[in-house]
Amino acid sequence: MIDRPTAPWWTSAVVYQVYPRSFADSTGDGIGDLVGITSRLDHLQRLGVDVVWLSPIYLSPQADNGYDISDYQAVDPVFGTLEDFDRLLAQVHERGMRLVMDLVVNHTSDEHPWFVESRSGKDNPKRDWYWWRPAREPFTAGEPGAEPTNWESFFSGPTWTLDETTGEYYLHLFDRKQPDLNWENPEVRAAVHEMMRWWLDRGVDGFRMDVINFISKHPELRDGPTTGTGGLGNGFAQFATGPRVHEFLQEMRREVFAGRTGNFLTVGEMPGVTWEDARLFTDPARGEVDMVFQFEHVSLDHGPGGKFDPKPLDLRDLKASLGRWQTALGETGWNSLYWNNHDQPRVVSRFGDGSRESATALATVLHLHRGTPYVYQGEELGMTNAPFAGVDDLRDVESLNHFHRAVEAGQDPEAVLTALRAMGRDNARTPVQWTADHEAGFTDGTPWIAVNPNHTWLNAAAQYDDPHSVFHHYRRLIELRHTRPVVAVGDFTMLLADHPHVYAFERRLDDVRLLVVANLHGTEQTVDLAPEWAGATAVLSNTAGHDVDASRAILQPWAALVLELTGGQS
Ligand code: NOJ
Repeated sequence: MIDRPTAPWWTSAVVYQVYPRSFADSTGDGIGDLVGITSRLDHLQRLGVDVVWLSPIYLSPQADNGYDISDYQAVDPVFGTLEDFDRLLAQVHERGMRLVMDLVVNHTSDEHPWFVESRSGKDNPKRDWYWWRPAREPFTAGEPGAEPTNWESFFSGPTWTLDETTGEYYLHLFDRKQPDLNWENPEVRAAVHEMMRWWLDRGVDGFRMDVINFISKHPELRDGPTTGTGGLGNGFAQFATGPRVHEFLQEMRREVFAGRTGNFLTVGEMPGVTWEDARLFTDPARGEVDMVFQFEHVSLDHGPGGKFDPKPLDLRDLKASLGRWQTALGETGWNSLYWNNHDQPRVVSRFGDGSRESATALATVLHLHRGTPYVYQGEELGMTNAPFAGVDDLRDVESLNHFHRAVEAGQDPEAVLTALRAMGRDNARTPVQWTADHEAGFTDGTPWIAVNPNHTWLNAAAQYDDPHSVFHHYRRLIELRHTRPVVAVGDFTMLLADHPHVYAFERRLDDVRLLVVANLHGTEQTVDLAPEWAGATAVLSNTAGHDVDASRAILQPWAALVLELTGGQS
């Protein structure tokens, strides 16, 4: 079990994700860039975070905002230069923080020279670097098409595109501009390892690994159950957490990190990962990754039709899910903790009611679990979903593809838009709201996606001097993790599991106990506490609206309270 005094540094660390396109623009072209990020590092230092995770800044046609890479060792001119990157890295280090790169190696861009070569002919030495298959034979009437499998892409439509040059199909789990690399080929793995070493030699402190549990596919590539749109199938069981994924990650750890000294962080994004698998991936003895991003808790409000068919969250489901992960990775392995990232709608709109109180209550709950918390840019301000008026306001390839396919299939455009407003990824991608001024202080020009109109009151400048702001609440939570070992490595016990509106748990380390009680609802709640908490010290609260007597806590809407008992107290 990870415990003092051997706990790795990242158990008491907090990671901050920067999505460069939307963070800060220094040139006036409306797109955020590296110089812009460097100019805002004071904000991160003030918040107190330990690590910056930088979403992709590599050369890219930007079909998926940089998650489609055409050169892993070059910076896209839209974000600046390699020199700008080196300056950012130096500044991050100078401030005592670390910098983790996004590693997108399940796929490349179709404009990557590897793929350009691969598609040029069946005999090309790089042909086998990607997944090429002939048309399905014999073609049977009633099947969705001649594609080698029936899988539906994450971005709508089939996962296979016919390439006229050779008359074969290539696999792309995401957009057609994101062909999947064939990790079965050792040359592919060696090329990725070499590229990773190049970044580590440059001084970076680790990697966030994009959909890394998709790198091992079942080589037979069988059809999946036809649950997708238009008769397409779900190929998940064929490409997620495949037979060689652990082997590939262990090899990567050996080839890239062995013999290096330093404090590195690796986190694998793993859609659909189970806690059983996560325990294997994060068991330090196995040498794979330090932690994974799992998706169970951010799928609880998906309806029968998936993420664009949302349903209200039942808090009991959330507690059961996160509680299960706390237990599963309590003895072996480690959790990452997140509400938000560049793919998720804003939590304050999704699980909260948009208010400061709900932003801070949700933050309190998340940050005081056992695991490493991730803050996504703007979350620390309580930034909300955006009021997209119509499809022209959307930019995300996933949302646009979904809109067009759903409308073509006969769905009501307004109903599709309603779902996209609630769940679409563009909600996370509106510019960071620095000030109440022109374009929220993000750019001097016109932003690539509209700034949320609520920046006139919801912005960083307005929060710095307000001790009750969301920003200062996040700052205090981060400080608690840094200063209280019970937050970092204490064990976790869920309380009130069946309560529909109150999220409560206890953390314990030796003779220190922390009680976290949060009302995640818009009505007052009263809960019974064990009597000893009457004498406890309140270490954090997001509102004056709570009252604890010998046996009960009366919690105002969205009130969150953290109590501490130490050895001397009963
Ligand atoms: C997961 C990333 O987080 C997402 O933004 C991206 O679209 C897909 N992987 C494909 O790279």
